[in-house]
Amino acid sequence: MIKALRGMKDIIEDKRFLKIFDTAREVAQSYGYSYIETPILEETSLFKRSVGESSDIVNKEMYQFIDKGGNDVCLRPEGTAGVVRSFIEHKFDRQGVPKRFWYFGPMFRYERPQKGRLREFHQFGIESFGEASVYEDINVIALAADIFDRLGITYTLKINSLGCSECMPSYREKLTKFLNENKENLCEDCQRRINQNPIRTLDCKNQNCQSILKDAPKITDNLCESCKNDFEELKKGLDNLGIKYEVDKHLVRGLDYYTKTTFEFISDEIGAQSAIAGGGRYDRLVEFLGGKPTPAVGFAIGIERIMDLVDIKDKRDGIYMGAMIKEAIPFIQKKAKELRKDTKVFVEVKPKSLKAHLKAADKGNFKKALIVGEDELKTGKFFEKEL
Ligand code: HAM
Repeated sequence: MIKALRGMKDIIEDKRFLKIFDTAREVAQSYGYSYIETPILEETSLFKRSVGESSDIVNKEMYQFIDKGGNDVCLRPEGTAGVVRSFIEHKFDRQGVPKRFWYFGPMFRYERPQKGRLREFHQFGIESFGEASVYEDINVIALAADIFDRLGITYTLKINSLGCSECMPSYREKLTKFLNENKENLCEDCQRRINQNPIRTLDCKNQNCQSILKDAPKITDNLCESCKNDFEELKKGLDNLGIKYEVDKHLVRGLDYYTKTTFEFISDEIGAQSAIAGGGRYDRLVEFLGGKPTPAVGFAIGIERIMDLVDIKDKRDGIYMGAMIKEAIPFIQKKAKELRKDTKVFVEVKPKSLKAHLKAADKGNFKKALIVGEDELKTGKFFEKEL
């Protein structure tokens, strides 16, 4: 028997999946975001240049292959890079007005599967382009918080700032010096990161590295005046909206494109893979990928990570229509067409006894059953039962 690949799952009749999709879409639209759909397959270099060569995603997890035309391509491991590519390709960077997009779709990472960690998973994400103000970061975080609140999901929000092109280089220098002094005791990955992207060492999962890194210089102690003010404003803005947060000075995120604000939503109800959403500002990425310099900020939610946190109360809804004789089926099909303008209507195409129809309607969680037998067909009226 052929089975689905390891780390990939069928999603069948899962009402939670659609509820998350509908809720996230509604909230994004209520904030003025428009829908974007980008291809699942992109040039590999797009992810190498944006997500970054020092990231685990690019180093170990890409579904990369050469297509029949000899192109080096890759299944998207995340959504931001494709949206930025599209933003530049369609010249939105030259219009000089903010542009805000939401998306929903599958992402692929060749990771070791475990609870909450799949090789094909879904993300809902948003990307806001053209607004450098920290108040936009607050809007973006509030949008994510609204989605979780509407879905009844409780979370811990962690925030940090990585600084900008002014303060990041001097911090990198200080950190690199510290890392070189402790090089022998760091894991192989961190030793490699010293030259590639030293900041990525800060969120290394290795216990030994963590115990060394707790004495490393902190980014938030090295921010320039403007980044420091923005970080203070960010905290005040979240307080103002009643959104609780914790400052996590080691929150650097696993992708290389971030600047200034970074954030993650964590759930303590789903085990080790506890990040349910992550995002931040990436003010240099548009320019880095060949566009006009454009500030940007966004996040993505991991749908499979929040599925178990969503409670579906199955309410009865819709109409079940059934015939007791074959001749009545065209009659109910015609009637169903009319009723469907206002409500969900299911038509059973096998003639059955009244009892069998009512049992099926009850099992199917319908609100009402409309049944036609010989008498009803003559009078044009239905046998009607509220369930
Ligand atoms: P990310 O933190 O790599 O960020 O992924 C976002 C979310 O996707 C995670 O918080 C997690 O819930 C979910 N996720 C990641 N990997 C897996 C996996 N293997 N299995 C199941 N769920 C997973 C990004 O992807 C950025 N593009 C977010 C962003 C948008 N930043 C700015 N704009």
